[in-house]
Amino acid sequence: MIFSILNALLLLGYCALPNASYCIEELGLSTKFAPLSDGAAGVPLNADGYAIVSFGGGAYMVTEGIYQSLILVSTEGVILVDSPPTIGHKLQWAIGNITDLPVKYFIYSHEHADHTGGAFLFMSHPDVITVAHENTAYVLSYMKDPNRPVPQITFWDDYTVRLGNQTLQLSWKGPSHTPGNIFIYASAQRVLMLVDTVFPGWVPFNDFAESSFIPGWFEAHDYLLEYDFDHYLGGHLGRPGTRQDVQLQRDYIHDIYNNCVAAINASATNNTAVGEQNLAAKVFANNPGNFWAMFRVYTDSVSDLCYNMTSKKWLGRLSGQDVYGFSHASTMVESLRIDWDILGPFAVAPN
Ligand SMILES: *[C@@H]1O[C@H](CO)[C@@H](O)[C@H](O)[C@H]1NC(C)=O
Ligand SMILES: *[C@@H]1O[C@H](CO)[C@@H](O)[C@H](O)[C@H]1NC(C)=O
Ligand SMILES: *[C@@H]1O[C@H](CO)[C@@H](O)[C@H](O)[C@H]1NC(C)=O
Ligand SMILES: *[C@@H]1O[C@H](CO)[C@@H](O)[C@H](O)[C@H]1NC(C)=O
Ligand SMILES: *[C@@H]1O[C@H](CO)[C@@H](O)[C@H](O)[C@H]1NC(C)=O
Ligand SMILES: [Zn+2]
Repeated sequence: MIFSILNALLLLGYCALPNASYCIEELGLSTKFAPLSDGAAGVPLNADGYAIVSFGGGAYMVTEGIYQSLILVSTEGVILVDSPPTIGHKLQWAIGNITDLPVKYFIYSHEHADHTGGAFLFMSHPDVITVAHENTAYVLSYMKDPNRPVPQITFWDDYTVRLGNQTLQLSWKGPSHTPGNIFIYASAQRVLMLVDTVFPGWVPFNDFAESSFIPGWFEAHDYLLEYDFDHYLGGHLGRPGTRQDVQLQRDYIHDIYNNCVAAINASATNNTAVGEQNLAAKVFANNPGNFWAMFRVYTDSVSDLCYNMTSKKWLGRLSGQDVYGFSHASTMVESLRIDWDILGPFAVAPN
């Protein structure tokens, strides 16, 4: 049944499998997804469209429901981490409603503009000090974006920001979501931030949050659990997370890992759905010599099997599983192939 749909899609020139929402839309089928699960909702926003969550000790999260910033108010000024453009001027209002003191430190969690494209809003104070990892500074220097000024202070492994009565520990543990994404830890308030890694209540954004080094992004979940924390900020959606949220997403991605390894293994056999030789025979019959068509159908089929194995367990537990779950399976399959060297039928053949 699915294979006849698959062939129909190939003939129509759409996508290889009925997995991506684009294909569904183009065919005029449903664009309706599964209902949100428990834990998806953010904190209620005020009439101006933002919320401030206090963790005590002068630490606050500000959100507009989809993005997050961290604020540490000290006796001498504010330490601010990230300034998502979608929060924009509301972040200035939030800070203005918490303290009269100016922002003295601006910390880049990483360079991505959707989290830091509002940095320029906080550069007016003459003494403001900007801080980022060296790899983040490299990209910011390269891009010359006036919205994201080049940081004044850069570091490689660790850097501690001290201002008045506040301390914020910045640590780099290798490339992960980006080459310079950092762990940001306020130990007094037991607040831990690592942006674009865990998405409390939800599966990650598309393709494992568009991360550049998947093995490092994977291991970051283990590093998170080594910290002593009660509150986690992933930079996304409308509520802070807990240790349980980190543990749950870690379980989810490990499930995807195991299922995708199994799917790649199956692709090296004569399995009808994913066996590489079976798929190649079908594709080459219609498209002689088209190697890209063969790879596309191969990786989509293997990803679909991995997604199938994973969805049964996770649908209803993390929101958006049916929206981005296939993209995660497909990112996992590609990373297993090119980072982990699990190549199935494309490995060196045994003698
Ligand atoms: C630091 O000072 C600020 C501003 O007075 C206060 O709100 C906060 O609770 C203090 N935090 C700590 C950890 O002492
Ligand atoms: C406090 O927040 C409101 C909007 O919620 C804003 O209009 C006002 O300017 C803010 N106050 C300060 C001092 O920033
Ligand atoms: C995949 O195949 C490898 C090598 O044959 C094997 O060691 C591994 O246990 C298999 N894993 C799964 C999940 O099937
Ligand atoms: C598929 O492979 C299995 C085990 O390798 C073998 O027993 C079976 O005969 C094969 N089936 C076909 C249709 O080739
Ligand atoms: C994925 O699941 C669907 C629905 O159960 C099934 O028809 C399809 O064959 C599966 N895909 C693969 C590649 O096994
Ligand atoms: Zn990012």
